[in-house]
Amino acid sequence: MIQLMHTGRISHPSNTPHVRRPIAPSAVKPEGKMFTASGPLEMPEPRALSTEEVAGTVRDFRRAAGAAVESGADRVGIHGANGYPVQQFLSSNANRRDDRYGCSIPNRIRFAVEVASAVAEEIGAGRTGIRVSAGNPFNDVVEDDVPALYGALLDEELATLVADLHLLHGGDEDLLRSVRRDWPGVLVLTRSGADIETRAEDVEDRLTDVVPVGTMVLANPDLVERLKAGAPLNEADTSTFYGGDERGYTDYPTLPETITAGARAA
Ligand SMILES: Cc1cc2nc3c(=O)[nH]c(=O)nc-3n(C[C@H](O)[C@H](O)[C@H](O)COP(=O)(O)O)c2cc1C
Repeated sequence: MIQLMHTGRISHPSNTPHVRRPIAPSAVKPEGKMFTASGPLEMPEPRALSTEEVAGTVRDFRRAAGAAVESGADRVGIHGANGYPVQQFLSSNANRRDDRYGCSIPNRIRFAVEVASAVAEEIGAGRTGIRVSAGNPFNDVVEDDVPALYGALLDEELATLVADLHLLHGGDEDLLRSVRRDWPGVLVLTRSGADIETRAEDVEDRLTDVVPVGTMVLANPDLVERLKAGAPLNEADTSTFYGGDERGYTDYPTLPETITAGARAA
């Protein structure tokens, strides 16, 4: 699976080849800093996309989906979470538009639906997924009336465009239960930072169809073997997240390596 991610305003000009100003639904500067080659830098005010450019961005997602499949991906995921453009359009602070992509809920969900529709048309709904983080304020996003907003987005129409919905759970249990109840398709649930037992309970309680693991599998190249053996897990070193080299990505020890290193040190 290849995930399509547009950063929108969560970016910095120095991270682009042409040192371009980031683009966004509206010219609203996000709070926070972006990792760059010169260290973390304040994110600037983005440039607002014209209505025509929004349609062009939808086409970019479509092209990228086609390219992903052509290069061997079996599936494509649309990154609609974590304060990136799809969620920026959904939000009330990053999206101050007064055209067909702003103001009302039907307008604010339009970009997400158009992206899903374009990707599904290009590669087939069966190969398309979308990830959302309903109500999650990460990357300076504010969403009003989250149940109504996501109730409108996660409907029958979207279910015909994607094979699965990946929900990054922000802690609102009522919202999670209503998404589970109303979403007609496959649900993938990420409960950030939860231990493996809690994730297993979500499957047993039928709150989700699939449980992904992120940090745990990053820090444990032999996660499955460790879980089967009931062995302790390596802790992820968060200081290496989003870094520029292999540290924290490909250098965690397997269980046999940890045991050998321990025996050597003793
Ligand atoms: C270093 C790092 C990079 C990540 N990159 C992405 C990404 O590109 N797309 C995405 O949807 N989530 C990304 N995430 C978020 C994870 O997919 C996941 O939601 C998060 O780590 C919480 O789940 P966990 O407790 O299983 O790690 C990233 C997380 C980390 C730590």
